[in-house]
Amino acid sequence: MSDLPSLAQLQQHDRFLARHLGPDAAEQQAMLEVLGVASRDELIDQTVPPAIRLRQPLALPAALDEQQALARLKQHAQRNEQWTSLIGMGYHGTVTPTVILRNVLENPGWYTAYTPYQPEISQGRLESLLNYQQLTIDLAGLDLASASLLDEATAAAEAMALARRVAKSSSNTFFADENCHPQTLSVLRTRAEAFGFELIVSSLENLAAQPVFGALLQYPDTHGEVRDLRPLIEQLHAQNALACVAADLLSLLLLTPPGELGADVVLGSSQRFGVPMGFGGPHAAFFATRDAYKRAMPGRIIGVSKDARGNTALRMALQTREQHIRREKANSNICTSQVLLANIASLYAVYHGPQGLKRIAQRVHRLTCLLAAALEAKGMVRLNRHFFDTLTLEVGGAQTAIIEAAKAARINLRILGRGKLGVSLDEACSLDTVAQLLAIFVGADHGIDLAELDAAGVASGIPAQLTRTSAYLTHPVFNTHHSETEMLRYMKQLENKDLALNQAMIPLGSCTMKLNATSEMIPITWPEFASLHPFVPAEQAQGYKAMIDELEDWLCVITGFDAICMQPNSGAQGEYAGLLAIRKYHQSRGDAQRDICLIPASAHGTNPATAQMTSMQVVIVDCDKDGNVDLGDLKLKAAAAGDRLSCLMITYPSTHGVYEEGVREICEVVHAHGGQVYMDGANLNAQVGLARPADIGADVSHMNLHKTFCIPHGGGGPGMGPIGVKAHLAPFVAGHPVVELQGPNPGNDAVSAAPWGSASILPISWMYIAMMGPQLQDATEVAILNANYLAQRLGEAYPVLYSGRNGRVAHECILDLRPLKAATGISEEDVAKRLIDYGFHAPTMSFPVPGTLMIEPTESESKAELDRFIEAMLCIRAEIERVQSGDWPEENNPLKHAPHTLADVTGVWERPYPISQAVTPSAHSRAHKYWPAVNRVDNVFGDRNLFCACVPVEDYRED
Ligand SMILES: Cc1ncc(COP(=O)(O)O)c(C=O)c1O
Repeated sequence: MSDLPSLAQLQQHDRFLARHLGPDAAEQQAMLEVLGVASRDELIDQTVPPAIRLRQPLALPAALDEQQALARLKQHAQRNEQWTSLIGMGYHGTVTPTVILRNVLENPGWYTAYTPYQPEISQGRLESLLNYQQLTIDLAGLDLASASLLDEATAAAEAMALARRVAKSSSNTFFADENCHPQTLSVLRTRAEAFGFELIVSSLENLAAQPVFGALLQYPDTHGEVRDLRPLIEQLHAQNALACVAADLLSLLLLTPPGELGADVVLGSSQRFGVPMGFGGPHAAFFATRDAYKRAMPGRIIGVSKDARGNTALRMALQTREQHIRREKANSNICTSQVLLANIASLYAVYHGPQGLKRIAQRVHRLTCLLAAALEAKGMVRLNRHFFDTLTLEVGGAQTAIIEAAKAARINLRILGRGKLGVSLDEACSLDTVAQLLAIFVGADHGIDLAELDAAGVASGIPAQLTRTSAYLTHPVFNTHHSETEMLRYMKQLENKDLALNQAMIPLGSCTMKLNATSEMIPITWPEFASLHPFVPAEQAQGYKAMIDELEDWLCVITGFDAICMQPNSGAQGEYAGLLAIRKYHQSRGDAQRDICLIPASAHGTNPATAQMTSMQVVIVDCDKDGNVDLGDLKLKAAAAGDRLSCLMITYPSTHGVYEEGVREICEVVHAHGGQVYMDGANLNAQVGLARPADIGADVSHMNLHKTFCIPHGGGGPGMGPIGVKAHLAPFVAGHPVVELQGPNPGNDAVSAAPWGSASILPISWMYIAMMGPQLQDATEVAILNANYLAQRLGEAYPVLYSGRNGRVAHECILDLRPLKAATGISEEDVAKRLIDYGFHAPTMSFPVPGTLMIEPTESESKAELDRFIEAMLCIRAEIERVQSGDWPEENNPLKHAPHTLADVTGVWERPYPISQAVTPSAHSRAHKYWPAVNRVDNVFGDRNLFCACVPVEDYRED
C-alpha cells in the first residue's frame, strides 16, 4: 500500500469553485475570526433570518470542472446548425474584424468594466461611445444621438414614448407602417397597450385617415422597399405629429439619411456593424433625434465637459432625465444597456472609416443588384420596386421547390405568405452566394454568367432622389486608425484609460461585480452560438434549445419558480415583463382596476420608472429607522389601495444591504389584499442556496444574469434579466410574433426584439452554474463573509448605516459619510474620487441613501484585495482627519483635488501635500500605478453646455 493520494482523491471535480472564490479556506478562517465566529455556518446562522432559510442543498447536477463543462456545452453547441441565413428582418451576417474580436469582445479590459458613472476612470469607453453617437448622428442625419439602447424594437417603442412626450398633437394614437419588422410591431403593441395609447398598424395609404401623435416608418421596409418618406413625413408634421424612422444602418451609407428627409427620430440596430447575430443578441440599438427633444431622450447620452484643469473630459450627460433621479417621471427605465456592443459597432466604423464602410455597403448593394437583374432576366417577379439589400419575390407555385433547394444548399430564406419569399444579402455574402441563390430560384441551368453581368453593368436599386450626397464620418477618429497596428494601439489607448476588473476590485453596491471567468466567456464566440439568426427554423437551433432549457430548469431550482421567461434583455426589462404579467393576470380575473404599485422608498429608480410604463400608480411605502419596510405603513397603504392594489415591488435583501426579518409578512400583507409580489432580483447573489424568492412569497422576480450569474457588465451592458414566475403567471409572460414560444398564451406580444433576448450570452450563466452546481451556496456564503468582513473592519472609521440581526449585513453594506461631511466638508464624492488615486473604482455613490457609499465586494475578491481596499479607506480616513485638524485647508487637500493626474504632477506643484501623497499614497499604487486620464469632471458645465459629438482632436490637448 502506498500513501500516495488515490485517483479519486486527485480528481478534483469542484476545482472551479476555488478559482471563483477569492479567499481560500485559511483566509476565510482569518476573516471569520475577525468577525468573532467559528465557522461560516455560524455567520450565516447569525445573518440570514431562519424563517426564510432553504434547508436543503440546491438540487442541481454536481459541479463539472472547466474542461468538462466546456466539453458538455460544446456538445450542445454542435447541435446548432450553421446555415447561411439571408432572412434579414433586422439581423444580418457581418464580419467582426478579428482585431476587434480579440482585443475588445474577448478582452476583460473592455468587457469587465462597469457603466461609466465614474467618468474619471471611464474616458476610454466614453470616447468610444461618443464615436458611436457621432456615427449615429452622421448616418441618421440628425442633431443628437444617445449612446445605445437595448434593441431595435424597444428603441422603436422608446421613440413612440418620446413622440407622446413632445408632440404638440393632442391625439392619443400612434401609427405604425404594417411593413415594419414584425417583432418591432409586436413590442410596439405591448408598449402602446401598457401606456394606454391606441396603436394603428396599417398600410401607409391610411396614414392620413385619423390624427396621430406620431408614426413609425421603416427605411428600407421589412420587405426591402426603399420609399421616399418626404411626403409621409410632411403629412405627419402637418398634424403636429412626429415622424420616427427605423432605419438600416448600413443602407444609410448610400441612402439619403432620414433626418434629411425630415424625420424627427431615427433608430435601428447597429448589429451589422461587426456584431455577430448571436441568435438575437446582444446588439446595440441606435437612437437619434432633434436637439430640441434632448430632454425627452431615453437612455444614456455621452456629453463633452471639462475637468478641474479645464481639459476636455467626457461624462454621461443630462442624467436628471433618468430614473435614478426622476423615478416614475423618468423618460424610460433603461439602465443596463448594450455598451460593449455599441463600442464594437463604433470601433468597426473607426476601423473601416467612411470609405471602407461605403465600399461594404456598395458591395452588398451590388450583389443584390446582380441577383435582382439575373432573377429579372429569368422572368421572376420582384415585389419591391426599389431596394438596398433585400428582395421580396413572387415565386407562386415554385415556393416549396425553392425552399427545398435552399435547404439543400443550407441557406435560410425569409418565408413570407403563400407564394412569396424574401432574401437579404449582407457583408458575408459573395458572388458565390448570388450564384447559389440564382440556382436555387431559377434552377442550375440558368445560363447567366454573373461576372459578365457585373462587367456589363446593372441598374441600381436605389431611387435617384434618395441617393446620399451628404458627407459622413469626417472626424479624424474615423480617418486615422485603418492599419491594424494603428487600430490595435487606438483600442489599447482607450482601454488603458479605464479601470476594469482586470486591474482592481469594483466594489459597486447593487452591481455584483464578481469574476467573469474565462471559461464562461469562451463559448460566446463559438460560431455555433454566434452565427445563428434568431428566426432560423427550430430544428437548426436544437443546441440553443437544449442549453436554454437546462438553464431555465436550473434557474427554477435556484429561485423556486415554476417557469422562466428568457426574453427580457436587462434587469429593468425584466421588471417591465414581470409587471405586465401581473397586469394581465389581474385583467384575466376581471380585476383590471388593480393599478396601484407599492414601492418602498429605498427602491432602485428603475422600479418606479417601470411601474409608470405599465400605467400603474406608484405609492411609496416608508422605511423605518433601520432601513426596513415600515410594516405599519405598508399595511395602511395596502388597505387604502384595497381592490386597486396591483402589486408590491420589493428588493431582497433590501437595497439597504440587510435581510429584512419581516419579508414573509410583507408578502402576506400584499397577498391578503389581492396583490402580487414582484421581487427585484438585483440582490439574488445574497440568496442563492440560502433562500429562494418563490419560497419567501414572490410571485415573479427578475434575475440579473449580469450580476449573480457572471455575465460581465461590458462597460454598461449587455445584460439579461429573465423573469421567474409562479405557475399562475406563466401564461401571461412575453410571447413572440415570429418564433412560437412554449408557455405564454398564444398571441402574447413581445417585450424585446428577440425571442430569448440576448441568447448568445446565456452560455456564460450556463457555464457558471454547470461549474458550481450546488456549491453556488458557497459563493453566496463567501459574498456575505466578505461584506461582513469589510463592514467590521471599516465600521469604526465610517459608520455602517444599516445592519440586520446580530449586527450583520447581507452581501453589501452602506457606509455613512454624512457625519464626516458635516464635520469636515469632505463628501462621499471626494472619498470616491480619492479611491482612484489608490487604484480603486469607487463604490456606489449616494444610492440608495444620499451622502453614502455602498460597497459590495462579492465572493470573488480575495482577502488580500479586501485588505488593500480597507487600507485605502483607512488611509483616506486619516487624510480626512488632517483636514479636520486644520492641517490641510478645506478646499486644498488630496481629497478635494482627487483624482490626481499626470498633468497635476508635471506642472508647477504648489499644494500643501507632497506629490507622492497625491499620486502614490499606497505601496500598491507605487508598484502598479493607475493614472486617470482626466481630473475631476465638471458635471454642471457639461449639462449647461451640452455637446454630444466628437470633439476636434485639438481639444484634447492641454494648453
Ligand atoms: C436594485 C436594482 N434594481 C434594478 C436594477 C436595474 O437592472 P438593469 O441595470 O439590469 O436594468 C439595478 C441595476 O443596477 C438595481 O441595482
